[in-house]
Order: sequence, then structure tokens, then C-alpha cells
Amino acid sequence: MIVRITAEGKELIKDWISNDPDEFLKKMEHLYASLLNGQEPFPQDCGCVDISLSVVGPEKIRELNLSYRDIDSPTDILSFPLWEENSRFIPPCDWECLPLGDLVICPDKISENACENNKSFTEELVLVMSHGLLHLIGYDHYDNESQDKMWTVQDRMVGQFFGEEVPDMKDPEDTCFDARLLLNEAKRAGSYAYVPYSSFPVGAAILFEDGSVVSGCNVENGSIGLSICAERNAMTTAVGEGRLKPVAIAVTGGSQGKICPPCGACRQFLSEFNSDMSVVLEDDGKPVIYKLNDLLPLQFKFSGKGEAEDDKQ
Ligand code: THU
Repeated sequence: MIVRITAEGKELIKDWISNDPDEFLKKMEHLYASLLNGQEPFPQDCGCVDISLSVVGPEKIRELNLSYRDIDSPTDILSFPLWEENSRFIPPCDWECLPLGDLVICPDKISENACENNKSFTEELVLVMSHGLLHLIGYDHYDNESQDKMWTVQDRMVGQFFGEEVPDMKDPEDTCFDARLLLNEAKRAGSYAYVPYSSFPVGAAILFEDGSVVSGCNVENGSIGLSICAERNAMTTAVGEGRLKPVAIAVTGGSQGKICPPCGACRQFLSEFNSDMSVVLEDDGKPVIYKLNDLLPLQFKFSGKGEAEDDKQ
């Protein structure tokens, strides 16, 4: 997928960013392309996307904000999606090159917000432009759920822009076990969670080489630090049954549909038994799979000599 941003007024951001605007926009095009590649539903035939960007001053964006949204003040960004019908993104399916719409940004306002949010101008700009793109493809923030979804993706985009490592995801169809079944087992276990303090139930289900599954839930305690996580509860139960070689673990928890990745302590605890195991999570109703090694690089291994050594297997 190729993304082309046609920018008008880009010299207006020149003074705010450390690199040249063309370089910045190239990087944004790559970021947009990598997001759109993974988007569903996105037309299969579409190999190219066009986005128009206008960079304007506070007075111009105030005028636009007033005429399109009835708000008489400047804002950081306005998005004008081309394929929106009843708040849904419905693009034509047979266009090779698809215009997505227009973004209008105001560097003065972005800079003001950057100061308020204690961020650099570029960070705020990337956030705002990620937000704008998401509006062009049907994301919105009309309620808590849609806002959470949009915020998660735009934060991920900012991380990606600044080179934060995102662990490699595995294809759920590519595994030798049924990821959904394991998730269901985790949910079942989570229904027994004892969580009078956090009200945050977690369930874990661990699959072993022989096909057996051992599950566990989190169990809290009035002496808060004694609470035990679902993953460690499941793993210690399994060890008590002589099962020492986990192949995969599914973890579910918290509010419906939201991803619940294992905490750092549980990652370390599980890596003792198989640092290459798969970790199955549920993101927005769909299974997503990581390798424990990717979620916990350079894990501690007891060398027996009182020194930490990384995994040399
Ligand atoms: N919790 C787990 O069960 N697993 C994790 O990996 C992270 C957190 C539990 C502990 C506590 O009962 C609740 O979630 C809120 O922190």
C-alpha cells in the first residue's frame, strides 16, 4: 500500500519541527501505510491512497471550525472524510487509488496543546495527524468504547513513529492449537476470580504438550500484596500436577473485549517453564498471539552462581 500526502502550506510547520517537512511527511506516509495495510475492511484492490493536508493559521481553522462544526474557536485539526455514511467508513471497493479526504491542521494550536500536555511539538503533531487519519477511515469518539478504541490505535501509531518496538504478532490461523478455545477456557476460569478489592477478574488457561489445559483465576487478599495473579495461579496448579512444559497461555480480564496482557512478574514466572510459549490475548473480540520471548526480552535466568545470565538457548 502506498500513501501519498499532498500538502499545502507545509512550510508553516518548518519552524516547529527539527527535520525538513518533506522528510516528516514521508515518515507520516509510511506510518499511515502500515496502519492501512492491517485495516479491515479495506478494499483488497486498493494499492494506493491519497490524502490532502492543509496547514493553516489559527484564524483560518477557526473559520472552518465555525462553518463545519458551529464552534467559533481555533482547533488543532479538522478531518473531512470522503467515504463516511452514518459514521461508517464505506469506500468503493474497486478503486486502485483511493482518495480518503482532507485534513486541516493548525501548528499554532498544536504547539499550544503540546505545551499543555508536556509533549514536544512533533509528538503532538504525530498524535494529531494519527487522530485525523483515523477519522478518515471511520473511527470516532462518540462514546467511551469508541474513544478507547481510537485512543489505543493512535497511541500505537505515535509509538511506532518514534520507533518504539511493537512485539511481533503471530497469525492465530498459524498455530497448532485452537486459540479461541483456549481464550474461552481462560474466560471460564476468570468467572471464579476472587476480586473484592479490585473488581478486576482475570482468567488464565495454560495448554500443555499432551493437550491438557490447566486454568486459574486471580485471588486477592485483604493484605493486598498477597494477591495472586491468574497466570501464576494456573501455572503453580499445573506444576502440582506434574505438568512442566506449557505450550501456550490464554489470558483474559478486566472489562469486556479489552486486551489484558500478563504483568511483568507473570511473564518472568512463566518464562521459567517455556520462554518460547505463545501468549494468546483477546483484542476487541479477536485472538491476538505473541511469543513470550517477544513480550519479555532478556529475561532473568538463574545461573546458579549468583549471576543473572540472559537466555542462551
Ligand atoms: N492480575 C492478574 O491476575 N494477572 C496479571 O497479569 C495482572 C494483574 C490481577 C491482580 C489483581 O487481582 C488484579 O488483576 C488487578 O491488578
